[in-house]
Amino acid sequence: MCGIVGYIGKRDVAPLLLEGLQRLEYRGYDSAGVAIHGKSGGLKTAKAKGRVRELESRLPKRFAGTTGIAHTRWATHGAPNDVNAHPHLDADGKVAVVHNGIIDNAADLRAKLVADGVELVSDTDSEVLAHLIGRSQAPTLEEKVRAALALIEGTYGIAVLHADFADRIVVARNGSPVVLGIGEKEMFVASDVAALVSHTRQVVTLDDGEMATLKADDFRTYTTEGSRTSATPTTVEWEAESYDMGGHETYMHKEIHEQVDAVDRVLRGRIDDRFATVRLGGLNLDAREARAVRRVKILGCGSAYHTGLIGAQLIEELARIPADAEPASEFRYRNPVVDPDTLYIAVSQSGETYDTLAAVQELKRKGARVLGVVNVVGSAIARETDGGVYVHAGPEVCVVSTKCFTNTAVAFALLALHLGRIRDLSVADGKRIIAGLRRLPEQIAEVLRDEERIKELAAEYADAKSMMFVGRVRGYPVAREASLKLKEVSYVHAEAYPASELKHGPLALIEPAVPTVAVLPDDELLEKNRATLEEIKARSGRILAVAHQEQDKADHTIVVPKNEVELDPILMGVPLQLLAYHTALALGRDIDKPRNLAKSVTVE
Ligand code: AGP
Repeated sequence: MCGIVGYIGKRDVAPLLLEGLQRLEYRGYDSAGVAIHGKSGGLKTAKAKGRVRELESRLPKRFAGTTGIAHTRWATHGAPNDVNAHPHLDADGKVAVVHNGIIDNAADLRAKLVADGVELVSDTDSEVLAHLIGRSQAPTLEEKVRAALALIEGTYGIAVLHADFADRIVVARNGSPVVLGIGEKEMFVASDVAALVSHTRQVVTLDDGEMATLKADDFRTYTTEGSRTSATPTTVEWEAESYDMGGHETYMHKEIHEQVDAVDRVLRGRIDDRFATVRLGGLNLDAREARAVRRVKILGCGSAYHTGLIGAQLIEELARIPADAEPASEFRYRNPVVDPDTLYIAVSQSGETYDTLAAVQELKRKGARVLGVVNVVGSAIARETDGGVYVHAGPEVCVVSTKCFTNTAVAFALLALHLGRIRDLSVADGKRIIAGLRRLPEQIAEVLRDEERIKELAAEYADAKSMMFVGRVRGYPVAREASLKLKEVSYVHAEAYPASELKHGPLALIEPAVPTVAVLPDDELLEKNRATLEEIKARSGRILAVAHQEQDKADHTIVVPKNEVELDPILMGVPLQLLAYHTALALGRDIDKPRNLAKSVTVE
């Protein structure tokens, strides 16, 4: 989704805005723009298709000011080009707006504006906001913005400048994240703390329906109806340095290799050896309530959904509670039957994914109990849910999720162990799982030490016209996620199936140009998985196996250390992250900013 940045204070604003945009470029990167209050009055703007560096090269020489807003775009309405880039201006050029979200009634509003003689210059929905604010007769900028938002149906995170109100920036949030950065005689606003932490770690996260006025030495928050709200700054836990590349060529490579420390962090302080269980402070679910749970339903999108598949498997296996996962993006549209005895769990790295947030809001509307398994502290989903587990992966900048995927799977293992030990999981099994969890960081390090060989295998298979990924039961979510990883970062088509399903149709796809990656945990299904390898070999299919020992039926095997059978899927995903990474590298892809994608999808 789009990235918004704003600053008001005493410093030269343009460099600050550009630096903030660069921090947010992973949210959307097809065009960018800035608007500032010029020193001689009036607004100055610059916009450019392409990356932020393109905008930087297009900035006018005289572009000085101390108040401004900026935007990096992931197009929803209107092609990526200079005209459709934000900020958008009203007809008099006195109002500048940057917007993240979708205005559902934009077509009607555009028609009314055109009927009133307004000339719309872009194809975007966002431009209507600039005109509505500019045409409002309300006396203050806050009231102009509120009047415009009252006409809007849809989602927004906005920042607004007005030439006649040079001492302030007005911002508003409904469905798209807006975070205020509280500095010393300077204020910041951004879509994500990533753009703030190098200046301040004191932040205020707006809620849906909330607005704020930022002045150089003050800020205040209020609702879109105008009533004041209380805003207590919180301290961001992540240091600015954690957003640096750390000597790696890409964030993806850095974040894959961070998994050793990241998994150590998600375990830290949570193991209870005394009772062979874990402590999950923020769960807000006591033992009696946990025992009353009759079913678990996990909701997430993309990789978050795939960790939900692993989580459902772990909960069912360790806690013996029926559990399943489904895409959050579908959930609210099927008029779901919400069961009071079901525990719902929303999974999200960003905590801002619109489809997942909307599913949570639908569940809350129907009286369900919802937990969040989230990475970004204080994010919308974390705040909307009744409690949950933070996954402590640290900031994940690459659009492609790796360390957060793994940490979320470990968080689910912790939750499953917690629920299991409240029920019938034995002390011996609790100790066994805890010992397995403690082995994960070193075993991940062992897998990462095999990177050079995985790089060679990536080169071996990079010519595939498509890749098939298969796994059974515990291996299937690993296959699903590995298939997504390959697609989104290398653009090589891939599909994932339960291995048992191949013979029911997909086997027709198998040929030498369509190799298969087979995930073979050393569990009770190993022999059935080896039989699947036979089926593929009999059709001249090439096979790359991920297993705990060499597979004679496979052309190549990536050997992964053995953990506890319930935890093996967590380890088996790591080499396949490297496989996707090195395939993309071999194909010359833009690893951290894959085409058409954005890190946090805060629109439907
Ligand atoms: C992950 O590799 C993808 N970029 C994407 O599927 C992502 O997992 C999905 O958009 C959900 O994001 P979230 O975890 O922030 O909710």
